[in-house]
Amino acid sequence: MKIHIKNTQEIAAMRVAGRLASEVLDFITPYVKPGVTTEELDRLCHDYMVNIQQTIPAPLNYCPPGYTPYPKSICTSVNHQVCHGIPGSKTLKNGDIVNLDITVIKDGFHGDTSRMFVVGEGSKQATRLCQITFESMWIGIEQVKPEAFLGDIGFAIQSYAENAGYSVVREFCGHGIGKEFHEDPQVLHYGRKGTGIKLRPGMIFTIEPMINAGKKEIRQLADGWTIVTADHSLSAQWEHTVLVTETGYEVLTQSEGCPSRPTL
Ligand code: MF3
Ligand code: CO
Ligand code: CO
Repeated sequence: MKIHIKNTQEIAAMRVAGRLASEVLDFITPYVKPGVTTEELDRLCHDYMVNIQQTIPAPLNYCPPGYTPYPKSICTSVNHQVCHGIPGSKTLKNGDIVNLDITVIKDGFHGDTSRMFVVGEGSKQATRLCQITFESMWIGIEQVKPEAFLGDIGFAIQSYAENAGYSVVREFCGHGIGKEFHEDPQVLHYGRKGTGIKLRPGMIFTIEPMINAGKKEIRQLADGWTIVTADHSLSAQWEHTVLVTETGYEVLTQSEGCPSRPTL
């Protein structure tokens, strides 16, 4: 495992990439309404990234070992879809929940962030799942400081989500990020305090818990990408890219429209 500690210049570039990724979500927010298709959201984001921001949509043709190239520019995961949902002709309807996951490349550096959206009026259960998942991401972020352990993050997220009656997806995790989309370390969203590597200033990684209303087990669809809950229960995810500073953390994927830290 080779964890890259970012220098001052790299951190400055990651701040720019992070803000741009968050601004794509600000841009798309007013379009997330009943009747829109996920491929329309993809097209709008793609054009905004390429033509307005002059960023590269990192998902497009992304092809990790064992995968086929990802065919779109963003991920749109609806209801029981956990992550990596491929935009298509599916129309969003009142009460759906959808995660939009944006990764941009600017000047060679990646910014990766996702938010949940409740389409129209959501049920009480759907709204609570999105809120608890948001809070669980933030409780993970709050653990980040030099000398803390990676396992402290996972422990905090898992305790919070399970205490609310939900389960944590195990197969996908946060990740180091920089010149590469996915770098070391893996940031698990479950685990035990005091385990794993110690955090050091200059590390940059994502925290992106996937929380299921039902059981933790997942399945991959035949498209080779889309992950769904095995029991078809609702699933939610939020993601930020986070820098370890000398005294704590800095969230790099912030922008004007980004929901602020909840009171925990
Ligand atoms: N953005 C996702 C993450 O947070 C990865 C998506 S890979 C894709 O790590 F190819 F599906 F876009
Ligand atoms: Co990520
Ligand atoms: Co992401």
